[in-house]
Amino acid sequence: MAARSFNLGIIACGQMGTAIIAGILSQDLTANAPWNVKRIFISVQSAASVSRLQNMLAQHLSRVTIYQGDNLAVAEHSHVVILGCKPALMERILGAEGMGDALNGKILISVLAGKTTEMTRRAISGFEAPTGEATPHVHVVRTMPNMAAREHASMTVVSSPEDDSDIDAVRVTRWLFDHVGKTHEIPESLFDVIGSLVGCSAAMFTVAIDGLLDQSVASGLDRPAALKLVTQTLFGLAKLLEAGNHPSVLREEISSPGGSTIQGLMELERQGVRSAYASALNVTGERAKSLGSKEK
Ligand SMILES: NC(=O)c1ccc[n+]([C@@H]2O[C@H](COP(=O)([O-])OP(=O)(O)OC[C@H]3O[C@@H](n4cnc5c(N)ncnc54)[C@H](OP(=O)(O)O)[C@@H]3O)[C@@H](O)[C@H]2O)c1
Repeated sequence: MAARSFNLGIIACGQMGTAIIAGILSQDLTANAPWNVKRIFISVQSAASVSRLQNMLAQHLSRVTIYQGDNLAVAEHSHVVILGCKPALMERILGAEGMGDALNGKILISVLAGKTTEMTRRAISGFEAPTGEATPHVHVVRTMPNMAAREHASMTVVSSPEDDSDIDAVRVTRWLFDHVGKTHEIPESLFDVIGSLVGCSAAMFTVAIDGLLDQSVASGLDRPAALKLVTQTLFGLAKLLEAGNHPSVLREEISSPGGSTIQGLMELERQGVRSAYASALNVTGERAKSLGSKEK
């Protein structure tokens, strides 16, 4: 990635793409930055989504171009392209005529669950070029962000570079996603389960939150107040974990002998909550893997 200043594309800019772009546009990407996003090109499928994005990005429209269905234009005009479609659409979008030429030599960042970098590369039109024709070379980087990108608080995992030629692509990817939270590199072999850890575990935590809210309401507190209390408690826990406190140590510190916390913890163990969470992450990873097949 030689150019310091580059155009960013987002093909299929849905919920996740919008969260990423909102995070990126709300930050000053030029301040002391190794790179600078010059222009942004976006594609969606429906007129309704074009209007939604035009309204949302009204103050940035001098830098942003939104296409309805023209994914090729996004690939042609951009140096770095984020692919944000549903996994089942990847082959159709990347296999479109001209996409291989448009992406040749560029960086393609995927946020798709279940699609390996190899599957992504193979889906690009012209990858299996007839003898004598050059096969496009695209620097594919696999990522898994989460919806907290909307609040600049995503935890995004990024696949480690496959070889030296991809080191810059991974750096640019991390730089982009660092503007919507934090990033961490992992080997691609861990992506299905660990991608699910960052992509899906927030949804799993909401089930625990619901149980706490239900009992708070059953005990007489109104639900909005209960939600406020749980939110700040979770925020506090996140701060403690971020400060380096180990969860087991925190649990023991809070559980005084003969106290109430230990009773609650023992009830959770009796109900198998710990293994239910471990198992839920495992089946989520399995499902993510199966989303890689075309039929899903
Ligand atoms: N949502 C999450 O929390 C999350 C977290 C991590 C990763 N992801 C990954 O992000 C990807 C997208 O998920 P999402 O929740 O953002 O989905 P989504 O909101 O349904 O967005 C999909 C987008 O694709 C567009 N689209 C569909 N067909 C298209 C085409 N042929 N050409 C151009 N655009 C097209 C749709 O446009 P219209 O709106 O006009 O129909 C829509 O904007 C998935 O692969 C998922 O694995 C999501």
